[in-house]
Amino acid sequence: MVQVWATLLACLAAIVATAGATSNNLTDLVTWDPYSLMVKGERVFIFAGEFHYERLPNPVLWRDVLEKYKANGLNAISVYFFWSYHSARRDVFDFETPGKDIQVLLDTARDVGLYVIARPGPYCNAETNGGGLALWGSDGSLGKVRTSDAVYERAWKPWMDAVNAILAKNQISYGGNVILYQIENELQETTHSPSNTLVLYMEALENATREAGIVVPTTSNEKGMRSESWSTDYEDVGGAVNVYGLDSYPGGFSCTNINSGFNVVRTYYQWFQNYSYTQPELLPEFEAGYILGWGSYFFDQCLAEHDPAFADVYYKNNIGQRVTMQSLYMAFGGTNWGNLGAPVVYTSYDYSAPLRETREVQLKFKQTKLIALFTRVSQDLLITEMESNGTGNAVSTDDVYSWVLRNPETGAGFYTLQQSSTPSREIVTFSTFLKTSLGTVTVPMVNLNGRQSKILTTDYHFGQHTLLYSSADILTYGILKGQAALVMYADAGQTSEFAFKDNTDLSYKIYGTANISSSAVSFSNTTSYSSHIAKKYVYTQTYGSTVLQLSNGVLVYLLETQTAWTFFAPPTTMDPNVSPENQVFVLGPYNVRNVSCSDNAVILVGDNANTTNIEVYTGGHERTIVWNGKRLDTRRTAYGSLVGTAPGATDRVISLPQLSFLVADSLPEAQPDYDDSQWVVCNKSSSLSPTVPLTLPVLFSSDHGYYAGIKVYRGRFNGKASSVNITAQGGAAAGWTAWLNGHYVGGNTGNATQWRSSAILDLTQTSIPNATNVLTVVTDYTGHDETSTGPAGVENARGLLGAALYNGSRTTNFTSWKIQGNAGGNANIDPVRGPMNEDGLYGTRLGWHLPGFEPSVSEWKSGSPYEGLNKSGINWYHTTFQLGIDADLDVPLGIELDAPARTEASVQIYVNGYQYGKFIPQIGPQTRFPFPPGVLNNRGENTISLALWAMTDKGARLSNATLFAYNVYQSGFAFDRDWSALQPRYTMDRSRYR
Ligand code: GAL
Repeated sequence: MVQVWATLLACLAAIVATAGATSNNLTDLVTWDPYSLMVKGERVFIFAGEFHYERLPNPVLWRDVLEKYKANGLNAISVYFFWSYHSARRDVFDFETPGKDIQVLLDTARDVGLYVIARPGPYCNAETNGGGLALWGSDGSLGKVRTSDAVYERAWKPWMDAVNAILAKNQISYGGNVILYQIENELQETTHSPSNTLVLYMEALENATREAGIVVPTTSNEKGMRSESWSTDYEDVGGAVNVYGLDSYPGGFSCTNINSGFNVVRTYYQWFQNYSYTQPELLPEFEAGYILGWGSYFFDQCLAEHDPAFADVYYKNNIGQRVTMQSLYMAFGGTNWGNLGAPVVYTSYDYSAPLRETREVQLKFKQTKLIALFTRVSQDLLITEMESNGTGNAVSTDDVYSWVLRNPETGAGFYTLQQSSTPSREIVTFSTFLKTSLGTVTVPMVNLNGRQSKILTTDYHFGQHTLLYSSADILTYGILKGQAALVMYADAGQTSEFAFKDNTDLSYKIYGTANISSSAVSFSNTTSYSSHIAKKYVYTQTYGSTVLQLSNGVLVYLLETQTAWTFFAPPTTMDPNVSPENQVFVLGPYNVRNVSCSDNAVILVGDNANTTNIEVYTGGHERTIVWNGKRLDTRRTAYGSLVGTAPGATDRVISLPQLSFLVADSLPEAQPDYDDSQWVVCNKSSSLSPTVPLTLPVLFSSDHGYYAGIKVYRGRFNGKASSVNITAQGGAAAGWTAWLNGHYVGGNTGNATQWRSSAILDLTQTSIPNATNVLTVVTDYTGHDETSTGPAGVENARGLLGAALYNGSRTTNFTSWKIQGNAGGNANIDPVRGPMNEDGLYGTRLGWHLPGFEPSVSEWKSGSPYEGLNKSGINWYHTTFQLGIDADLDVPLGIELDAPARTEASVQIYVNGYQYGKFIPQIGPQTRFPFPPGVLNNRGENTISLALWAMTDKGARLSNATLFAYNVYQSGFAFDRDWSALQPRYTMDRSRYR
């Protein structure tokens, strides 16, 4: 009975709290008001992270990533679904092979306890090949993309229907975790007119979602503050979504100057007030790192992007402006393996993201966690009005800027403090004037340590208690088995104070080194409680943690910031909206994935590089900590937590083999007598692509059914010719090389900022018989364009744009052209690795990159990429080796490649059949390529190939090709599995793709 009443009361409370909520009239399970989103009637701060499952082809690792998102405080994932990845041919969709089984992704999100914000395009951008549009449409057959063009609609509708059908049944209304659905991406409403083609397009997409049974609210993603699109609150002429969103990448960092950028944007609040005032403030993408392209820097080099201060100042700045929904782009970037990238990015899509490409948690994520966990439990934050803001506002100095939010129902206040000039590294100490329900309090000695922000609170409610104020940041609180535990953090040496509203004279015990004193709070303008004497606790933070046990039953953890980075609050529920009751507190390790409690033990699963002390607080009476299946020697502290030592992995030996290779020629096509009778003949005289062919026949690769990867062309002509003018377009950094009758005649070795290049090749140096001559051209490829790259986007042609042959000043003709691309073209012969993975190199076509391929003695000899080629050509280096990493370790492995200065080459890296890297030494910057488990077998046999294409007659060789380990973690995640389903093996029928 008690239980029934409690449930009824809880329901009633939820209804009261959300009275006045707006629904889209399709579901009441997700609603909103101007303050926040409500899921099942309960307000929730959405702190999401973008995740592209496409960029991590092992679905088991999706769980690894999502568990780390969850551990670091996120409660949702935002996910693009790339049409290109699922559709090798028109109207054919793969949602079944492991890496494309999005049901597994959605199930994993549900099991880990993360909401899902679905973003199925059809256009995504995302620096992915073609922006996510189907590559079979790169021949121009998609029509006028991203408009209401009927040709385009006929193309996208089947994709949307297919993906929507899966998303629909995973909505929260059917027990799934999909709570929001974004329509299109960054589509700018240029003209607010009902007949605008973009309006009609948005409406068509919305109709398609409704037809498919999508009932959760729709959202949008405005491209920065560049237009005012799709909001019901602003010139709504149709196509508006339920909750308007704005993306923002404000960091402005440079990789060479650590001091550049770091100016926060202070106009979000006003923007949302202007354009979406009936909705909560949504940042569907907020900078968590940024892209870097060919020829620029590697992500490790851009130190400012990795600074935890970025998360601290920028994310708090959003909170200060009343944002209650934000998603970090990217929270984990992953890899542009297998031609997944657009030309604007190289293989790594690490993005300097909080979770690195190697799946390692960097400090920025740990700082993010402190903020995310705060938003997870701070109910007071979910209804606030902007009370005041400005330079010198509520503080004693103009060096500090503040945002003051007030909850009109509870009176709680949130004072976000930041440097007036946020790039400043000055240490400022000042007073803050906090309005509490008992009067204004002056807090002296508040300190910002350079690039730092703080959220001070007043009348902050937790459980039965109210903090009258706190000048230390609150990390989180828990009501753990009835025990209230509050966690705060500050830098070592910073002085903070806090007071409770409900108790005037508490006794307390201190465990730890921080000095704490208590005294009466003095109010400058007391209210009706003028006689009220509240007690404040003033302390200076020391390294590590200090625990304060108060006689009102509250346990306060005072953590120094870096110690706070090792704090976790794993939930005991799958509900992403974690209530303060459903958590356990853990301090010490590198990562905590999940927790469960038995009568006697707290069972934790996590990861640890170093052996660390671990402290667990459950509020209960367990006696033992079990860490990754191991019972730790556990003792109980005087204040009721458990302490033990969690093992690390520093004593583990990782032995990696030196690679020794076999070599074979991968360019027999340059020889004039090569048999290309099975190749596709280029015989089209027109193309749908907006790119104009410079000569006929049309040589664009997409027009011949070859979309991704390197292409090989063979053009024949009879008799004399003196030169040929070749134009190729492969995307940034993509070069090309030409041979006449097997002899190098020239090309272009690529340029980081040039998509296309032309060269007039002198043919007079090569002997030209009167009979048939063959010009072989190999063109590199770095992806199809996004629509942000003119003139058209995905339809911008790839491969050869023209080949004009001359004999002296006279034009003469090729008699035929043939093209070869990835084996099978759009037949998708290796669906597991997918339609984009391969390229048209001879070795790839023949399956030399696949596990199980056995180099024949006749064709292969031993050879090393360190020797390389002494003239132009393409050598294929093949190796197999065993790895035997301990089963309980997570060891991110990779290969490091280097080449002598002035080498001009393009190197394709294949790992167990996956194209997992492209190394272009003359352009760079990437030299280290990580391979996740499942692509590489950390235990078992591996096949690695390096296809070394020497682009000039100087030849090319590597100076380094070494396997290495990024780090070693003892892990409770079972990385030791049978990955064979992800690695289909070589089959004999490959020989037909010669
Ligand atoms: C956004 C876009 C994303 C991604 C990002 C930059 O504007 O919506 O898809 O391209 O920029 O990484």
